[in-house]
Amino acid sequence: MSGRVVLVTGGASGIGRGVAAAFAAAGDRVVIADRDAEAAARAAKELDALAVTVDITDPASVAAGVAQVAETAGPVEVLINNAGLVAGGGPLVSLPMEVFDTVVAVNLRGTFTVTQAVAGQMIERGTRGRIVNISSIGSRQPTAGLGHYEATKAAVDALTRTSALELAGYGIRVNGVAPGPVHTPMTAGLMENPEARAAWESRIPLGKIATTDDIAPLVVFLASAQADHITGAVIQVDGGQLLT
Ligand SMILES: NC(=O)c1ccc[n+]([C@@H]2O[C@H](COP(=O)([O-])OP(=O)(O)OC[C@H]3O[C@@H](n4cnc5c(N)ncnc54)[C@H](O)[C@@H]3O)[C@@H](O)[C@H]2O)c1
Repeated sequence: MSGRVVLVTGGASGIGRGVAAAFAAAGDRVVIADRDAEAAARAAKELDALAVTVDITDPASVAAGVAQVAETAGPVEVLINNAGLVAGGGPLVSLPMEVFDTVVAVNLRGTFTVTQAVAGQMIERGTRGRIVNISSIGSRQPTAGLGHYEATKAAVDALTRTSALELAGYGIRVNGVAPGPVHTPMTAGLMENPEARAAWESRIPLGKIATTDDIAPLVVFLASAQADHITGAVIQVDGGQLLT
């Protein structure tokens, strides 16, 4: 690879960190954008990457972060919209509205805000960029208690398609990767509970929960020249769970 500037939101932990490591290993210049400044700095040090503190729910923070990256590393050529959270769970009739508002603010509004800022800059500078949005198979297969989260990921899939359509004329490609369950700090609590873990595993034909190494290669591929005729696709990495 050519040492492109790759911005990974939520790159300080879990899938984002795994994706950041994969781009760094391929020779790209990785920028970890995370609201957790300490964790971002730690990950950046380990991966020989740059860190920028950004809260994707705050457009001013996103604008400042994108400007800072352009100054220090150069304009973003690859954007990985990965930052996201579940924020809680429960039946929709009793889910606290703060939980709903939090997931919408981060997963949907945050993804929209970062896309707007980075794609705007790509258009301005004539960068034929690549964007990969991290969705979830929950956008297509329901799990009781996760409706608020899954709705945001379905919205991210819709945004992936619309932005792919709108940005194609500028040579910018936009795709999505939809993981099934993955071992990360987000799911650590669940995975430590043997019953909960077995219940999740039983839904996966290939019989195992993914690791971040199962997810990162597709993200790197979709951002590569080999995927130059792929845009608007959302591809699952789920051990076959969507078949069930
Ligand atoms: N872990 C799974 O099983 C799984 C499955 C499908 C999809 N996903 C998706 O993958 C993505 C990463 O999840 P993960 O499991 O690695 O989570 P994680 O909790 O390990 O990491 C998320 C990172 O995002 C950062 N972040 C959260 N809110 C932010 C904000 N407002 N601004 C900037 N950074 C913010 C956190 O600080 C953290 O570093 C999410 O979009 C998640 O929905 C995860």
